[in-house]
Amino acid sequence: MVKCRICGSELLPFISFGQMPIANGFLRESSFADEFFFELAVAFCTRCQMTQLLHPVEQERLFHENYAFYSSTSVRMAEHFERHAQAVHKHLSGRKDPFVLEIGSNDGILLRHFSVAGVRHLGIEPSANVAEVARNAGVQTVSEFFTEQLAVDILRQHGEADAILAANVMCHIPYLHDVFSGVKTLLAKNGLFVFEDPYMGAILEKTSYDQIYDEHAYYFSLHSIQYLSRKHGLEVVDVEALSVHGGSMRYTLSHDGEVARSEAVDALEAAEIHQQMHRAESYDSLRCRIEHSRNNLIETVSELRDQGKQIVGYGATSKSTTVINYCGFTSKEIEYISDTTPIKQGKFSPGAHIPILSYGRFLEKYPDVALLFAWNHSDEIMAKEKGFRDAGGRWLTYIPEVRIFS
Ligand code: SAH
Ligand code: TMP
Ligand code: ZN
Repeated sequence: MVKCRICGSELLPFISFGQMPIANGFLRESSFADEFFFELAVAFCTRCQMTQLLHPVEQERLFHENYAFYSSTSVRMAEHFERHAQAVHKHLSGRKDPFVLEIGSNDGILLRHFSVAGVRHLGIEPSANVAEVARNAGVQTVSEFFTEQLAVDILRQHGEADAILAANVMCHIPYLHDVFSGVKTLLAKNGLFVFEDPYMGAILEKTSYDQIYDEHAYYFSLHSIQYLSRKHGLEVVDVEALSVHGGSMRYTLSHDGEVARSEAVDALEAAEIHQQMHRAESYDSLRCRIEHSRNNLIETVSELRDQGKQIVGYGATSKSTTVINYCGFTSKEIEYISDTTPIKQGKFSPGAHIPILSYGRFLEKYPDVALLFAWNHSDEIMAKEKGFRDAGGRWLTYIPEVRIFS
């Protein structure tokens, strides 16, 4: 019996995807024999309502000097974080020499705006390669994992933080109690802790099961974040639904009772009850929809291959690792995956070992069908791939359901 890492209650496992490789573990042929696999299984906690991985992978295996995800590869995300930086900066105006801390600052996609504006800032980024890119862009960066101990050290060196920011990283950290203790220690009395992550409500709504992979140790709901916050003397004072990453939620927290709570929090509480997010049955029914989606995708790909169509993947996303391996696809079905990230090119996809080729290759000779693994960047991609459509190319997606379109 595995216990909830947030509240200690007995967990309710609802799906296992079987043995999975590291989602961002793009590899060379020489490493095929030592590839690491683990059981990707998810459980729901009926007490605190935190959905979580049953067997999280140790963080050093995921985040290191060869981390393959560079935040700034997406133009749309760069714009998203620029807007966020402006809003936070505006909120801090009037404070004397404010200090902004970011957990999981990656290549500096968000903090570079504070750096340019001359605001005191610090990024915490354990993956040394992406941290180096941030430093080169003028972003002060410490290459370590955020912990309560580190928070104590930062407090001593830099003083309290007026804003602690985090995007797509809180859900990566299995030891969340330690992180929340660190935030409690470091946050100024009138400071804000603002973080965003893929939202469980969106996964339930879109059956976006490809959000489930090793890095995502948790799938947050407002309820689960409120439970966790209360344990640490923090309070959720605002929430904002975001369209990025296929449906995220931004949570704003303050010290308990320091900031008035917005109506958006009450509205989301009600919406979660309406969506039945507290009920175990909702997760059972998600499992059924996931299995149905897999069967449809396998069938559609097989029909296209029978018609002699060439299928290639578009975007070697971490999310695609779950889909490819869960559906059992190999390079027989998906000839290669096109990706714009240099560090992924020339390598092979985790588990299935499908070649990752440059975006230039896709442009050079369009395939018949492009399997849209980067579906969360769909707007950006559709806008730039008119040529593919004009050449008769068709898209295959599986979110929210399996569908071919031109
Ligand atoms: N904030 C960026 C990056 C998200 S990827 C964005 O939204 O695009 C998650 C990042 O968090 C990775 O760069 C990873 O190295 C970092 N990370 C993972 N665990 C961490 C931890 N415990 N403390 C700080 N950063 C962490
Ligand atoms: P993400 O879904 O985790 O943000 O990863 C997106 C991946 O897709 C990343 O490896 C870059 C790649 N990509 C492309 O190849 N072309 C594109 O147009 C976009 C937006 C992303
Ligand atoms: Zn729990």
